[in-house]
Amino acid sequence: MASIPQTMSGILIEEPGDAEVLKWKTDLAVPQLSEGKILVKNEWVGVNYIDTYFRKGLYKAPMPMITGGEAGGIVVDVHPSVSNFKPGDRVGYLSSTRGSYAQYNVISPHTCIKLPDNISTNMAAASLLQGLTALTFIREAHPVKAGEWVLVHAAAGGVGSILCEMCSSVGANVIGTAGTPEKMDTAKKNGAQWVISSRKPQDEIVAEVLKITEGHGIDCVFDGVGAATFEADLQLAARKATLCVFGNASGAVPPVDPLRLSAGTPAKNLKLMRPTLFGYVVTAEEFHKYATELLGMIEKGIVKLEKTSTYQLENAKQAHIDLESRKTTGKLLLQVPQ
Ligand SMILES: NC(=O)c1ccc[n+]([C@@H]2O[C@H](COP(=O)([O-])OP(=O)(O)OC[C@H]3O[C@@H](n4cnc5c(N)ncnc54)[C@H](OP(=O)(O)O)[C@@H]3O)[C@@H](O)[C@H]2O)c1
Repeated sequence: MASIPQTMSGILIEEPGDAEVLKWKTDLAVPQLSEGKILVKNEWVGVNYIDTYFRKGLYKAPMPMITGGEAGGIVVDVHPSVSNFKPGDRVGYLSSTRGSYAQYNVISPHTCIKLPDNISTNMAAASLLQGLTALTFIREAHPVKAGEWVLVHAAAGGVGSILCEMCSSVGANVIGTAGTPEKMDTAKKNGAQWVISSRKPQDEIVAEVLKITEGHGIDCVFDGVGAATFEADLQLAARKATLCVFGNASGAVPPVDPLRLSAGTPAKNLKLMRPTLFGYVVTAEEFHKYATELLGMIEKGIVKLEKTSTYQLENAKQAHIDLESRKTTGKLLLQVPQ
């Protein structure tokens, strides 16, 4: 194995802002190993909407920072306190402490998995964060059942695509929303039986949902869009539904009066969840249970990872611009120079 250099290339953010603050650097210090950590040479990095929140300062992190919470690569060094990984292991990982938009990252082995031969580092970077989000949410935020009505917003996006695949595979009736005819087509291929244009006014979306469900409404709404869709979610929810609001693509949902959850005659008695993946994969056992199941779903073809767009790591700025302008479908990946 090649020796580990002192410096590396990557994307540095020195102050919060728009995509322009993502600066390509070739003289970043390779992070040092510490107790309980491993050093990974990244091959592929996953781009996630949360990266834009850290970049803009909506989610706080000390600056300067290397952002990014997901990658696939090769373990190149292991602290003596770690026994379950060794140099040469092919791995996929999540990093709640960020740092993946670079050639090397020091990570906790708790959220790292060795990859079976038929899962590439590209597939790991394309699936772990969004796939584990979808999987933990359909298991824990609202255990999705056959025959239920589920609404997935941004059903051609990263998390939305996988939610559609997983919910349809358990036999739920899936309605998706998506922003262009091409994206609507992708959402159908992902398993949404009905797809509504997300560019329609919200009252029209509510009316279409009630028509499709013959007045029943939705038993579980998965909403990563946030501010723009939340009011409609309240209206299209069925009695005893779960509103699983998990993102802010259009802005954060303003504070909600709990009394609104029991509006309606009879009262709807809604459950409002605001889950985050990192609250479901806190221990190594939790991460490994769900990551192993997710990789199994990829092997079985339930999660297909069909739509990915690749950018060079140096062009992370363009990936953020495209993601925020609603242009993208499926997963965005950054290829790391080796
Ligand atoms: N809570 C968690 O643990 C967790 C984990 C992962 C992701 N998330 C959240 O899940 C959401 C989706 O993440 P992702 O990475 O998979 O992104 P994505 O869905 O691929 O991209 C966002 C999509 O949201 C839709 N959208 C609607 N209104 C928008 C607006 N005003 N601005 C931008 N987009 C808008 C667009 O789809 P259409 O044009 O088709 O409508 C857009 O393509 C994000 O909010 C993210 O923060 C949360």
